[in-house]
Amino acid sequence: MTPYAPGAPDTPAPAAAPPAWWREAVVYQVYPRSFADGNGDGMGDLPGVRGRLPYLKELGVDALWLNPFYASPQADAGYDVADHRAVEPVLGTLADAEGLIRDAHALGLRVIVDLVPNHSSERHEWFRRAVEEGPGSPYRDRYHFRPGKGEEGELPPNDWTSVFAGPAWTRTRNPDGTPGDWYLHLFAPEQPDFDWDHPAVREDFHAILRFWLDRGVDGFRVDVAQGLVKAEGLPDIGRTDQRRMLGTEATPYWDQDGVHEIYRSWRRILDAYPGERMAVAEAWVPTPERTALYVRPDELHQAFDFDLMGVSWDAGEIRRVVDTSLETGRTVGSSATWVLSNHDTCRHATRFAGPQTGGEPPRAGDRALGLRRARAATLLMLALPGSAYLYQGEELGLPEVTDLPDEVRQDPSFVRSGKTDGFRDGCRVPMPWTVAGPSYGFGTGGSWLPQPEDWGQLSVEAQTGDPDSTLELYRAALALRRRHPGLGAGDTVAWDDAPDGALVLRRPGFVCTANTADRALTILVPGRPLLASSPVETAEGAPGTEFSLPPHTTVWWTTT
Ligand code: GLC
Repeated sequence: MTPYAPGAPDTPAPAAAPPAWWREAVVYQVYPRSFADGNGDGMGDLPGVRGRLPYLKELGVDALWLNPFYASPQADAGYDVADHRAVEPVLGTLADAEGLIRDAHALGLRVIVDLVPNHSSERHEWFRRAVEEGPGSPYRDRYHFRPGKGEEGELPPNDWTSVFAGPAWTRTRNPDGTPGDWYLHLFAPEQPDFDWDHPAVREDFHAILRFWLDRGVDGFRVDVAQGLVKAEGLPDIGRTDQRRMLGTEATPYWDQDGVHEIYRSWRRILDAYPGERMAVAEAWVPTPERTALYVRPDELHQAFDFDLMGVSWDAGEIRRVVDTSLETGRTVGSSATWVLSNHDTCRHATRFAGPQTGGEPPRAGDRALGLRRARAATLLMLALPGSAYLYQGEELGLPEVTDLPDEVRQDPSFVRSGKTDGFRDGCRVPMPWTVAGPSYGFGTGGSWLPQPEDWGQLSVEAQTGDPDSTLELYRAALALRRRHPGLGAGDTVAWDDAPDGALVLRRPGFVCTANTADRALTILVPGRPLLASSPVETAEGAPGTEFSLPPHTTVWWTTT
């Protein structure tokens, strides 16, 4: 399959090479289980995604990132991969994946796929054989099997806890039925961690990269990129509050220096393919400086800037996070990678609907306020230099579904934590496409998570053509971002003086003004207005005259 190559083959080379595509790309995250259901079984699938590619093209994004669609028992919605080279039958076939890549390329869209290297499924052939064959199996060393502590080996080998609650170890049974060794799983017991010291693990992931690169993918999103290497001897931590993905303290299982050698070897493979293939890290690490290590010139290309996802709706905090991210990115020559929502986090329309809730279950809050702030936050993000990742449904202003009944929830962390954590299903409720009809156009056979009753009013159909809708705001913003050279480019912003609660951010030929306060703030008109996240006075003042920026609103201006 041919790699994506924009432009005709005989296009003359530009004088200076343009920046690599991913540096400024807007990438749309597709959660295949919940995007569109092609065969009416209630679960989204690859044919469903393929059929909706024109929607993504029209939306104006540059690329899509697909969450895992590989063969998997779905103990963690596909992040438990049994075979990285096969497609989960519920989601489609390998031919569907190839067709999707081909169609996306024909529309000028790049494709990024997920790669899950920290762990496999317990149904992966290596792990099955490691357990079935017992101690002595050559597959044992590809995972972390250890004898237990205590007289009978009845205690876990160390004190690590799983991100999904409970111990990070599960005891096996020997082939003769006696209690056996324990194995490490930083996530669910169905997700045993690979031992990256084993050459077979390294070689297999090289082969997996090539397998998908040969099929034309433009990049990889690297799951739990900080987790692959564990400290020698798997030492105890001595603390019980280890469950957060993101922590400021070092642990023996996150962010070990040994991971970087792995990414250097991957970079050599990516660079050997034509067409600027790339990788983006999901790396939860203690500091921006540590994040920067993952995106050194010979490692991965991008790492999500989760700090922006964690901000409160507060001008000062946003500015601090933006400056820090850009500053650290510059030290290694990488571009910023912004994100406000994803499949693991409460949607930003709900996050901004009330006080930040920390680790507590998301609450509905003041929905109108949340949406207003979310729209303003998105315009602000899209005015920053670097690339931006959008999560499916945020262009519809979808809120988090906070009242899913317990019995439909599938997040493994929900059950393991005794229902005190694991509320990730609320951002995974299937997309509404039409005002009415079964599952609002998601498919013909219902939806694996129930959609709220007002979902039809938020659908693509309901919002298309309505100039005040969130969907049309996203479409307009993305069209302007394409037309306006400079938006997304570079690695710096200049901040003009602004009243408390406001941000005035200057980019070449362009100014973005945002008001995070709950009252109007007066700023000076910086140019001609292009787009606003909420209605603003249409009368255009001359540059330099006073302008009343409404509360929770972002306005884009051109200065050319
Ligand atoms: C990442 C994924 C998340 C998954 C976890 C384990 O954080 O984004 O959805 O549960 O890794 O693979």
